[in-house]
Amino acid sequence: MKNILVLHGPNLNLLGSREPDVYGRVTLSEINDRLMSLAGKSGANLFCFQSNSESELLERVQQARTDGTQFIIINPAAFTHTSIALRDALAAVAIPFIEVHLSNVFAREAFRKESFFSDLAIGVISGLGAASYELAVQFALNHKNQA
Ligand code: DQA
Repeated sequence: MKNILVLHGPNLNLLGSREPDVYGRVTLSEINDRLMSLAGKSGANLFCFQSNSESELLERVQQARTDGTQFIIINPAAFTHTSIALRDALAAVAIPFIEVHLSNVFAREAFRKESFFSDLAIGVISGLGAASYELAVQFALNHKNQA
């Protein structure tokens, strides 16, 4: 059975009320519910984890190395533009991943165009709101890990 891990970075716990013009009005638990239901329909397991702490996200990525995680979907949020440590953790565990963003980071401030993750990711989905995550889950469900 496929095991998918969805990681949400800092401030994404505030979705729904945080800058709704940029991030929409859907809450994080609504997003997680939709993703779990999508995965469930395909008989896959999907686990969600949000943290405002870089070290907790690092620990969760490292845990994925041994807990049967086959695919990671990550919205590193502000850590996208700052965290070499989180980049290195994803490189270390060597689990295929997609980088997602609710907003179109290329249409915003210049510093948001830089990502420490994009070149390691299978792909990047940015700017489609909650659908960014849903499309990533659909891809993950069909993705065949290399033996
Ligand atoms: C974000 C974009 C980041 O630049 C920002 O720091 C976030 C959210 C997005 O989903 O659009 O917190 O990752």
